Amino acid sequence: MSQRKIFVTTALPYANGKFHVGHIMEYIQADIWVRFQRMQGHMVHFVGADDAHGAPIMIAAEKAGKTPQQFVGEIAAGRQEYLDGFHIRFDNWHSTDSAENTELAQGIYRKLKAGGMIATRTIEQFYDPVKGMFLPDRYIKGECPVCHAKDQYGDACEVCSSVYSPTELISPYSTLTGATPELRSSEHFFFKLSDPKVVDFLKSWTQDGKLQPEMAKKASEWFEAGMADWDISREAPYFGIEIPDAPGKYFYVWLDAPVGYLASLKNHFDKGQAANHWHEPSRTAQGFDDFVADPAVEQVHFIGKDIVYFHTLFWPAMLQFSGRKTPSQVNVHGFITVSGEKMSKSRGTGIDPLKYLSIGMNPEWLRYYIAAKLNAKVEDVDFNPDDFIARVNADLIGKYINIASRAAGFIAKRFGGKLGAVSADGAALLTALQAASAPMQALYDGRDYARALREIMGLADKVNEYVDQNKPWELAKKEGMEARLHDVCSTCIEAFRLLTIYLKPVLPALAAEVEAFLASGPLLFADAARLLGAGHEIRDYKHLMQRVDAKQLDQLFEAPEPAAAPAAATELPGGEGIAPTITIDDFAKIDLRIARIVACQKVEGSTKLLHLTLDAGEGRTRNVFSGIASVYQPEQLVGKLTVLVANLAPRKMKFGISEGMVLAASHADEKANPGIHVLEPWPGATPGMRVR
Ligand code: 2FM
Ligand code: ZN
Repeated sequence: MSQRKIFVTTALPYANGKFHVGHIMEYIQADIWVRFQRMQGHMVHFVGADDAHGAPIMIAAEKAGKTPQQFVGEIAAGRQEYLDGFHIRFDNWHSTDSAENTELAQGIYRKLKAGGMIATRTIEQFYDPVKGMFLPDRYIKGECPVCHAKDQYGDACEVCSSVYSPTELISPYSTLTGATPELRSSEHFFFKLSDPKVVDFLKSWTQDGKLQPEMAKKASEWFEAGMADWDISREAPYFGIEIPDAPGKYFYVWLDAPVGYLASLKNHFDKGQAANHWHEPSRTAQGFDDFVADPAVEQVHFIGKDIVYFHTLFWPAMLQFSGRKTPSQVNVHGFITVSGEKMSKSRGTGIDPLKYLSIGMNPEWLRYYIAAKLNAKVEDVDFNPDDFIARVNADLIGKYINIASRAAGFIAKRFGGKLGAVSADGAALLTALQAASAPMQALYDGRDYARALREIMGLADKVNEYVDQNKPWELAKKEGMEARLHDVCSTCIEAFRLLTIYLKPVLPALAAEVEAFLASGPLLFADAARLLGAGHEIRDYKHLMQRVDAKQLDQLFEAPEPAAAPAAATELPGGEGIAPTITIDDFAKIDLRIARIVACQKVEGSTKLLHLTLDAGEGRTRNVFSGIASVYQPEQLVGKLTVLVANLAPRKMKFGISEGMVLAASHADEKANPGIHVLEPWPGATPGMRVR
């Protein structure tokens, strides 16, 4: 078999949230495939990156009071913990907000433009008059024009997968301010996907076996509906890559996101790590440009079913019409559900991957369980706690691990750790196990891990039958059965080694322990063709894997403890304890409004009070007396926005009626910790907006 050169990616996660179990599932799927290919001696570069750009991240960063770079940097810093925790071994992790990505994305765009694939058009686009910016697609919601599902985002429908322009939404609204967006004109760039050249290319590209049958079918439905040109530009302000020769315009995040696959690979090559990779032969290392242009290199993407359109139409077309190689496979998986419940894309499911690890659950249980449910189809995978316990305890441990634990002790105690000769019945069993190697490889290569694990458990059943027939624990007590005991236990150890080879892509850490126990060296698929053989010395057996305890699953799904209020109020920096819990309904009774301080005066006869005149968007002003004269001069406040308690009962004071109260922060012990700080909203808020 000639050595394959493979470049593997998983979808680049948005850098605005932690990984959820949906990400982990995809990475496990890809990681198993990569480990399997390496166990066949193939060369693989497996890379990921953060998808850093786009309006949602820009807005989230703004809300957090950080620069977008800071914001995505903090998310990126948290990635490795998850990846290491679940034995997901990317060769490189990079970012789409990088020099490599800028260079590659701009280069691809220039080629597309030179090839006449970019059109310029003035379009009308939604603008949020309250926020003062063109509204990114994701911040417009409305009814899907195709299937009429409510509350769908402006670029694609999560229900029917249709892709459309936000202006096609029925009853649109801005999710930033709730305002009804207005149409305004600006010049945009389009990738001409409707060009017959592109359509013809995609029609054959999507139908020639690179895609799963159901995805190829989906693609032909899309062609029937007609291909529209793709709007690839966005107006400033935007966190993204500048479009060459177009000041103030940026690439839409989905233009530069998949280019991030190449950027991470380039970064990997440039770091010089790619050349001495696992199983790479001593041939002259290729540079990045040669590697990605090499017809022998396979480019394999793993993605979820929600982003198929981007990966099977836009991305191959971008590559093709910029003179690059197109992907070899786009492998689409379904979503992960928990006990049948769909997860939310932002919040994930009830399984928090870090909690899973922190309560001592074995990451390889999850790898095994997910693998046992994954096949090459675009089907959802359900995490069912009872099923999880059964698969791990009954199959993985009951059938596989137990083979070693039943035989290893005798080899150590009775035969000095050395394997003996295997007689005819044992040899027949081992031959049957070895014969599974080729079909097993086809199953892994075709991503039918569920079937692969079923086959492996079927083989383990055979081995256990053999153990039950021969009862080594009884042989051990009988006179003159020493040789048979040695034979039977050696057969078990050999069988265990073969099963370990087959399970190794799924259970890499366990396999490493088995390799140490067997003193076998790193196991590859080709090693299934031979046995350890009589005389081979193994090491002492240490228990390889614990069973899952049902309590661990209870703990995993337990709601997090609400943060306990500190016992002593004075321990809080603010000098006072948190008030008793109220409900959201209690809070809703307080009507907080943004108000502009239109005038402000000192109050004669009071050193404490300032007299504020406030506009809360009611078409009249209000008088409010506020005890802030010790810290603010009237002229500091005039023109500023603040927060008004608008439905507080008016209060008659010595100097007049106070029609509300403005919010300010202070320490409980004002004498010891002086200072009063009036609240001011972030830019964009306007008088009359409710604070909630
Ligand atoms: O859907 C998502 O989470 C995107 N961030 C995936 C991008 S994949 C690739 F194109 F970068
Ligand atoms: Zn729809």
